[in-house]
Amino acid sequence: MAKVWSSRVSTDSGQLFIDGIAASELAKEFGTPAFFIDEADFRDRSLAWKQALVASFGEKAGNVYYAAKAFISVEVAKWVKETSLGLDVCTGGELAVALKADFPTERIQVHGNNKSVSEIRRAIEVGVGVIVVDSLFEINRIATIAHTLGKTQKVLLRLTPGIEAHTHESIATAHEDVKFGFSIASGAAWQAVLEVRLHPEIDLRGFHSHIGSQILSTDAFGVAADRLIELMARFRDEFGTELAELDLGGGYGIAYLPSDEPLTPEEVLPSLFHAVKNACLLHTLEIPKVSIEPGRAIVGPTMFTLYEIGTVKKVVLEDGGDRNYISVDGGMSDNIRTSLYGAEYMGMIANREASHNLVLSRVVGKHCETGDIVIRDIYLSEDVTPGDLLAVPATGAYGRSMASNYNHVPRPPVVAVLNGKARVILRRESEADLLGLDM
Ligand code: LLP
Repeated sequence: MAKVWSSRVSTDSGQLFIDGIAASELAKEFGTPAFFIDEADFRDRSLAWKQALVASFGEKAGNVYYAAKAFISVEVAKWVKETSLGLDVCTGGELAVALKADFPTERIQVHGNNKSVSEIRRAIEVGVGVIVVDSLFEINRIATIAHTLGKTQKVLLRLTPGIEAHTHESIATAHEDVKFGFSIASGAAWQAVLEVRLHPEIDLRGFHSHIGSQILSTDAFGVAADRLIELMARFRDEFGTELAELDLGGGYGIAYLPSDEPLTPEEVLPSLFHAVKNACLLHTLEIPKVSIEPGRAIVGPTMFTLYEIGTVKKVVLEDGGDRNYISVDGGMSDNIRTSLYGAEYMGMIANREASHNLVLSRVVGKHCETGDIVIRDIYLSEDVTPGDLLAVPATGAYGRSMASNYNHVPRPPVVAVLNGKARVILRRESEADLLGLDM
């Protein structure tokens, strides 16, 4: 199967299988729409990133922090714990999931451009490993809370290295005009360094940058490493000691279409090592411990969404051609990425051998707006019919995690498949869940 599917997905006579279980059986047992996650694939990908970091950086390998925002549940946090990765959380809610999974708190790294006082307090109370500082206000909040609790908190400073990463504008994060971090170019980063040093309750370990998401070339990560290391050299020159840690964030792109070339760990890490080593040589600095934070590259390809087709409508286009509008039983409430970022997906009929005569189609959801599109342009069988199942691969990252209840549609379940067995790890929302908030 193409790289857009997880490794245990296969097809036979038009039927899609995951770890030997047919899509039709899964739909019957768990209903649609539903997300199916290949547990072994998730663990394999987590370990591949960890092993590649260690292979490239040796004793200078820091942590691979799995970015919870891509998708987290208590069960998934346990898998991350068992594969000995760290966890990047960016809200109190994500931290709560980690704590519920008994995730070792020293392996948790806390992000966020607007952490509330109570989020900071809880993080320090439970003993998170690192807080990644994003504003001057936050420095004072951390210092005050750590002081009250009689603790010292390790931090990294999140820096914006001024890079235009080649990705959608909403998910690029390291150019100057952005809400995240301290700009190196404007002097804000240095100001933050000086501010942090005023507080004995704060232990500044190093710098962090995350340049954006779904990036398909390694060049920009190297530029970020250069700029952060240059500032580490300035730190050494001013204060006579070296910062020990560098976190280069996540953002490694995956294949959504068979024509996409994903970034593999074996390609990313040697190139990061090369950039870090050269910059350190240039400034005669020791190589710091380097950490990364992949989210999408771990969970993205491990999941697919299974929908049932409800209606099919032929629409005549202005140029005289036509298009099949294929409506599925989910839509923008379980995958907002198409309408938000213009993301492209592929899909396949998963329950039978459909006609090989393909026609221009658009897969749309059941929501009340025209922008409710799952796949904008796709050639699908002309004989697609209500009751058919449609599988859309690579929906693991930012699918369920960005799901909403728009139009009071309950959010779909996540079903884990391992060794030929399927089990619900996050159940489908019910009508009672939806009505439960009304007073
Ligand atoms: N570290 C930090 C500080 C981040 O902000 C992010 C993602 C990551 C790591 C993980 O990035 P990844 O490896 O998953 O690309 N909703 C958007 C993506 C937003 C990414 C936000 N930050 C999407 O669906 O494409």
